[in-house]
Amino acid sequence: MRESPPTLRGGAGTECPAIILPIRAELSAAEEKLLRLLDSNETLISEICHYLVDSGGKRLRPLFILLVYRACGGGDQQLQDAIDAAIALELIHSATLLHDDIIDAGMLRRGKPSAYARYGLAASLVAGDYLFCRAFELCGRFEERLVHIAARACIHLTEGEVMEGRMRYRASAGLDDYIAIISRKTASLFSAGGRVAAELADAGPATIGEMEQLGRAVGLAFQMVDDLLDILGPEEKIGKPVGSDLRAGVMSLPVVLGLRSNPELQSLLNGGMLEGAAFERVLSLLRQPELIGLGRAMAAQQVAVARDLLKRLPASVYRDSLELLIDEQTNRDL
Ligand code: IPE
Ligand code: IPE
Ligand code: MG
Ligand code: MG
Repeated sequence: MRESPPTLRGGAGTECPAIILPIRAELSAAEEKLLRLLDSNETLISEICHYLVDSGGKRLRPLFILLVYRACGGGDQQLQDAIDAAIALELIHSATLLHDDIIDAGMLRRGKPSAYARYGLAASLVAGDYLFCRAFELCGRFEERLVHIAARACIHLTEGEVMEGRMRYRASAGLDDYIAIISRKTASLFSAGGRVAAELADAGPATIGEMEQLGRAVGLAFQMVDDLLDILGPEEKIGKPVGSDLRAGVMSLPVVLGLRSNPELQSLLNGGMLEGAAFERVLSLLRQPELIGLGRAMAAQQVAVARDLLKRLPASVYRDSLELLIDEQTNRDL
C-alpha cells in the first residue's frame, strides 16, 4: 500500500501548505509521473525504488524548481519540460540517498530501515544507478546545455561525497573544507535546478545566473540546518539516529565550528571512532547554545543571500512561496 502523498513540512514539524498552494497541480503531475518511472522489468528494482520514494520525503527539490520556473514567468508551453526537470532532480536526489546510506552505513532513512539495511548493498547500489539513468532518460531530449548542467551537478555530488569521506575524523578540517563539501554534495543540485528552471522559463542571462546563485544559497542553508539537526534530533523528527554524522566522523557544521575553539573536542575527535561516553561528551559539547547559535547564524546568512536575490524577480504568488521556502530553511525547528 502506498502512503499518502508527501508534504513539505514546516517549522516544528507542521505542514506548510501555503508554500505548495500555487503549484499544487504541477506538483501532483510531477508526483504521478515520478512514481510511474520507478517501475522496472526487474521487480527487485521497482520494489527498492518504491520503498524509498513512496516513503515520504519533502520533495523540496521539485518544489523549488517548479516555483523558480513560474516565478521567472514560465508559462504552460514549456511546463512539461519544467515538470520533467523537477522529476529528474528528485530521481537524482533519491539515487544519492540510496548511495549515501551505503557510504554512511545509514540504517534508518525517513524513519524506517534504509534500503541498504533492508535490501543490502548490491541491490541498493544498482537501484541507485537505475534512478540516475531514469533521470537522464527523461531529460536527455533537452538542449545539450541543460543536460550538461545536470551532469555537472551529478559529478559535483559524487566528488562532494568522496571529499567528505576523505575528511572524515580530520580534526584539521576547516570551514573552507566544509563549504567546499556541501557546495558539491548538496547545493549543486539546487543551483542546477535554479539555473535549468530559469532557462526553461526563457529568463534573461542575469536572472538565470541569479537563480543559480539562489539555488546555491538555499542548498547551503538547507545542509547547514540539516547538520545541526543531526546533533539536536530527536530521532522521530529527523528520521535517523541522533548523531549519525558524528558517529561516522563526518566534519559537519557543528563539528567544524566546535573544533575551532574547543581543545577538548579536538582531542576527542582526533581519537577516531566515537563510542559510549566519548560520543555522549562530544554530543553535549556540540549542543552548546553558542555553537548552535553560530551555526544557525551561518545558515541565516545564506537565507539573507537568497532573499536578496529573490527580490530581483517581479512580485508574484510564486515569488511569495519561494520566500516562504527560503525562510523555512532557518525556521526548521532548531
Ligand atoms: C536529505 O535531503 C539529504 C541531504 C541533502 C541532507 P532531504 O532532507 O531533502 O531528504 P528527503 O527527500 O526530504 O527525505
Ligand atoms: C547528504 O548527505 C546526502 C547527499 C547529498 C548525497 P548526508 O549524509 O548529510 O545526508 P543524510 O543525513 O544521510 O540525509
Ligand atoms: Mg547520510
Ligand atoms: Mg553522507
